[in-house]
Amino acid sequence: MEIPPRVRGMQDIFGEYQRYFTFLKKVARHEFRTNGFGRITTPILELKSLIEHSSGESSDIVKKELFDFTDKWGREVVLKPEGTPGVMRAYLESMREEPQPVYLYYIEPHFRYDRPQKGRYRQFHQVGAEIIGEEDPILDAKAMYTMQNILDGIGLKDSYTLKINSLWVPKEREKYLLELTSFFETRKHLLDETDLARLEKNPLRLLDSKNEDVKELLKIAPKMVDFLKKDSLEFYSKVKEYLDILGVKYEEDHTLVRGLDYYSHTVWEFVDGSGRTQDAFGGGGRYDGLAKSIGYKTEVPAVGFAFGAERLIEAMMDRGVKLKNKDQIHLYIMQLGDDAKKLSLPLNIEARRRGLNSLIGLGTPSIKVQLKKANKVGARFVLVIGIMEAKKWVCQLKDMEKGTQVEVPLSEVLDKVIAEVGESSLSFYHPTRDFIIEEPIIVVEEEVITSTVILP
Ligand code: HAM
Repeated sequence: MEIPPRVRGMQDIFGEYQRYFTFLKKVARHEFRTNGFGRITTPILELKSLIEHSSGESSDIVKKELFDFTDKWGREVVLKPEGTPGVMRAYLESMREEPQPVYLYYIEPHFRYDRPQKGRYRQFHQVGAEIIGEEDPILDAKAMYTMQNILDGIGLKDSYTLKINSLWVPKEREKYLLELTSFFETRKHLLDETDLARLEKNPLRLLDSKNEDVKELLKIAPKMVDFLKKDSLEFYSKVKEYLDILGVKYEEDHTLVRGLDYYSHTVWEFVDGSGRTQDAFGGGGRYDGLAKSIGYKTEVPAVGFAFGAERLIEAMMDRGVKLKNKDQIHLYIMQLGDDAKKLSLPLNIEARRRGLNSLIGLGTPSIKVQLKKANKVGARFVLVIGIMEAKKWVCQLKDMEKGTQVEVPLSEVLDKVIAEVGESSLSFYHPTRDFIIEEPIIVVEEEVITSTVILP
């Protein structure tokens, strides 16, 4: 029988790729935490109806990319294709009473049944955030500012462009869409199959067309900006003003519409400067109408964004962002004979206590095989305790980088290795830093004194 292969479009994340992922998570977590965001994890499965009513029936996600199935009870469920609907559902269920707005972030796997290629996978990860419960243009600007800080923090400064647009509120859009539709209805013969479907289901997506004829027509088509009310214009100009104050550079792109149906007012995308097809590092926008469209009694102001983690990791790799390897094995301990083995165990424990990453070559008999292993794992030092060394409490210390070997007393060897690898490369973590054990509250039950009345 052949080993079943990986499912198409899904990746195993390990080794160097995992180190980049850990670094990205670290930078993002720090940025979120210092800006008051708390972490949320929503279930991988959501009801299909939640996604249909939020991402939108006309979106590509719902039309062709859902991993959907019927569970044993006949409920239609999906592997979540994006984080926003689940976060909004969780907020409406449990967070309405908390101080508003609620700042939430997530680092989660998502699933879209897309055609796999570089930068586009069927299981991918999003680093995202949502700010729910308050309507203020400063929150839109702050969301973009947070994204910019994450990009700069992972070494991608100057490798991206921020594009922004406003889709205004649905009422203003309605009138505009009627005009846009009648404009294209009379020019249908110039539209391809995709654009004809857009014209029928969601004419706004025509602004996003890749068809050259449509791009030309858009130059003379009705413009959204001519349909705006004062409040929307003011909201948008406030967002831009706050971006300027925060030092976030942007380009306005009036064709930016994004592929999800819930947006109103501000939308944006951080795109890769290299002009690749899968060029969006991440995007976001305001979605005040989402709560109502999934069944809540009123609108709830909200704004958020998500990055594609794989796209960021691949961009870091392409642009030569090299990570320091914190997992390097500093010390590989080899031993021959039972006495040496007994010495090597406490030495291994002490090495780890002092912050050295160390491995012990237990169970492998020959020095040659052990040395090969030490080489393969990239150990900086190899410490050998043979039968003679065990008797004298010394070891042979091999510096694998310099190719030297010296005899060192066991009591001094860890100091010597630490001096060579440098204090800054040591790994320390004391879980006790992160918790306290509270004294249990002992409830002393009040003694009920019952007097015994002795009746005469
Ligand atoms: P989105 O633009 O659909 O927005 O996805 C955000 C990012 O996820 C994209 O810019 C891209 O980097 C990454 N991405 C999407 N699909 C794939 C894929 N198949 N493979 C790899 N990466 C992918 C949203 O999902 C919204 N929920 C963002 C948001 C949050 N808006 C408001 N709040």
